[in-house]
Amino acid sequence: MRWWDLVPVLELEHDLFPEDAWSEGMFWSELAHARGPRATRRYVVAEDADGRILGYAGLAAAGGLGDVQTIAAARDQWGTGLGARLLTDLLQHATAFECDEVLLEVRVDNTRAQKLYERFGFEPIGFRRGYYQPGNVDALVMRLTVQATETETETDSDGC
Ligand SMILES: CC(C)(COP(=O)(O)OP(=O)(O)OC[C@H]1O[C@@H](n2cnc3c(N)ncnc32)[C@H](O)[C@@H]1OP(=O)(O)O)[C@@H](O)C(=O)NCCC(=O)NCCS
Repeated sequence: MRWWDLVPVLELEHDLFPEDAWSEGMFWSELAHARGPRATRRYVVAEDADGRILGYAGLAAAGGLGDVQTIAAARDQWGTGLGARLLTDLLQHATAFECDEVLLEVRVDNTRAQKLYERFGFEPIGFRRGYYQPGNVDALVMRLTVQATETETETDSDGC
């Protein structure tokens, strides 16, 4: 995701999160940490062949801990696997950021997103009461333990 993606990203953001949409400034501030050798964020967009933004996602990483900040797919893309592709990208970057675990919050009533996260191995670890305002909706906190990648010795054990 780059600054020039923000107009269509904000359009999707307001459609998908009408009660608590991120502001343009919040995206700018995340993107400020997404480039360069000391980057602590991964922000990605998915677009079609015509350049229409279909979805986006973001991860923050610090001290071995990753946090899925946002993930969103346009309504007409739901169920197509786009959410899974975006999450795959974030988790690959969590490994690159050397995260041992990745956390996220999801609305307790958002079963679609919860199913996606469960499929990737996220497990519920608790609740944050009244996390989503307005509406006072609880968040389910989910955690994924990132598997250590195999060492070269292990993968070469057949002597190749
Ligand atoms: C959550 C979101 C990113 C998922 O994107 P997606 O492209 O639909 O994701 P996928 O197609 O990869 O997978 C969706 C999962 O929901 C399941 N699903 C499909 N229709 C569903 C429905 N009506 N109710 C519940 N789950 C449903 C799918 O079966 C799939 O789970 P499975 O693989 O275990 O079968 C998307 O729905 C979205 O943008 N929602 C609005 C924003 C949002 O809630 N973001 C998450 C904030 S924590």
